[in-house]
Amino acid sequence: MTDPIITFDNVTYTYPGTETPALDSISFSVLPGEYVAVLGLNGAGTTTLGLCVNGVVPTMLGGDLEGTVTVAGLDVGEYAVREMAKIVGMVFDNPEFQMSQLSAAEEIAVGLENAGVPYEDMIRIIPETLALVGLAGFEERSPLGLSGGQQQRLAIAAVLAMSPQILIMDEPTSNLDPIGKQEVFDMAARLNKEKGMTVIVIEHEVEVMARYADRVIVLNEGKVVLNGTPHDIFSRVDELAALHLRVPESAALSTLLARQGLWKGETPTRTESAVDAVNTLLEARRG
Ligand SMILES: Nc1ncnc2c1ncn2[C@@H]1O[C@H](COP(=O)(O)OP(=O)(O)OP(=O)(O)O)[C@@H](O)[C@H]1O
Ligand SMILES: [Mg+2]
Repeated sequence: MTDPIITFDNVTYTYPGTETPALDSISFSVLPGEYVAVLGLNGAGTTTLGLCVNGVVPTMLGGDLEGTVTVAGLDVGEYAVREMAKIVGMVFDNPEFQMSQLSAAEEIAVGLENAGVPYEDMIRIIPETLALVGLAGFEERSPLGLSGGQQQRLAIAAVLAMSPQILIMDEPTSNLDPIGKQEVFDMAARLNKEKGMTVIVIEHEVEVMARYADRVIVLNEGKVVLNGTPHDIFSRVDELAALHLRVPESAALSTLLARQGLWKGETPTRTESAVDAVNTLLEARRG
């Protein structure tokens, strides 16, 4: 059996100066190459969970961490964030705030420089990484002149340049238009499928999770309350409603139809499976 690349073993974390733990007795693991979506209401602890994986919690933020977070065989609490950055890349919701340089190439070079990567390697890595995120030839472009989707892909390129094994995206498209969203999610799916990269996406958009993720983890008040395949999780319509979480439209629609006796069988959690199911229903009627 493959060893997990991320393991949370009974992790409880409390920020400095607070009483209530942001993460409460969390245990789960992620296999290499998995695409995991993390879902929760505001304040559920999803960002904190990501920060535990890249070591910002507890190494930079302090606070009280109980239990262990193991990433690629390392106990995260014992390594500097700079060391963890070679294993875990994390991007946030506002790509513009992550841009600080005059050109796309420099944006990527900063992290490489900090990591002590020699210049000869940098001039190879920069164009390779830009190509990987669909920005080939963008070296001299000003980051602030790029579209939101392009900026977010550049932010992702900057972390990919360190060849991390794990990419964490924290609400990566919440400030992007629909095209930008699509660009970022398609790219992450490609990195996952073609490069075998482990991807963790913190997301509120359940349709996106149902479409791309291998697994969904639901947090509520710092606890893991659900952990399963997207189909398993999103067909639990009532449980999610009790947690004030949305389900994909296809699941919501079939549940309403089922209550009126118009739908039988599986709850579709992806639009495609809803279309198939509706077709079957119509064909049966035509009989
Ligand atoms: N730096 C901090 N200091 C103190 N408490 C914090 C800090 N950051 C977050 N918290 C608290 O920890 C809890 C979890 O926060 P976290 O940011 O992980 O939630 P989240 O699930 O990412 O929410 P959102 O969906 O709004 O981004 C919240 O109660 C929050 O107020
Ligand atoms: Mg957050």
